[in-house]
Amino acid sequence: MAELQDAEKQRYVADLFSRISGRYDLMNDLMTLGMHRRWKKQTAALAVQGLSGPAIDVSSGTGDLALELAQRPEVDHAVGVDLLPCMVARAEAKVLGRGMSNSVSMMTGDALSLPFADDRFACATAGFSLRNMPDISKALSEMVRVVRPSGRVAILELSPMEPGLRSVLFRPVFHGLVPLIGRLVARDPSAYTYLPRSVDHFLEADRLADMLSGLGLSDVGYRRLGFGTVAVHWGVKQGR
Ligand SMILES: C[S@@+](CC[C@H](N)C(=O)[O-])C[C@H]1O[C@@H](n2cnc3c(N)ncnc32)[C@H](O)[C@@H]1O
Repeated sequence: MAELQDAEKQRYVADLFSRISGRYDLMNDLMTLGMHRRWKKQTAALAVQGLSGPAIDVSSGTGDLALELAQRPEVDHAVGVDLLPCMVARAEAKVLGRGMSNSVSMMTGDALSLPFADDRFACATAGFSLRNMPDISKALSEMVRVVRPSGRVAILELSPMEPGLRSVLFRPVFHGLVPLIGRLVARDPSAYTYLPRSVDHFLEADRLADMLSGLGLSDVGYRRLGFGTVAVHWGVKQGR
């Protein structure tokens, strides 16, 4: 599961999100008490700060972050890319429902091989998806590739908590309550057992920042959100 690698991990993740796509938004609202909406808004604002032009949200799921990007005055068009047609269909329905078809497009595509030329976007975001990637470094380098020099990459992700009282208090929530809600609401306990385990196996916030620097980004930083359970990382692609 959380320890899987490469193609096996991709197959597991694709199967998991195909199963839960219909309950995905509801589960996010329940698990975060709606806070994921504010985190996505903050990530979009941070990604486009001081920039203007098109924006891409990678592994966009049901489209929230792409929609947040599209609502920013700095963004002239946002694109959301996800591997799964079922997720893209849900995102498209949301875009249509909000009357935003002119400012945001959704499409299928692989985060490990984005169907765009180099230097195409002012900024690139990814929300709660990097953890699920079979190759994290490749997914990040693809985001860096499609962002133009001086553009920004921003990553919103669940993050292993720093040791201390908070992490002790949150452990039963992650490993007990989340799978229970998954069982009752999504009717898929294994999907929501995978979630806390995938966080345990994910890079600590400092290590993810190191990886962004290692990919050549400058001004790398991160901020913890949600009582330290989530982090938003950013970095700027260096000019030529
Ligand atoms: C936890 S959801 C995140 C969705 C959305 N970004 C959000 O913040 O709500 C992870 C998403 O990553 C997508 N995904 C997994 N592997 C992918 C890949 N290789 N390329 C593109 N999307 C992928 C899944 O289909 C799923 O929609």
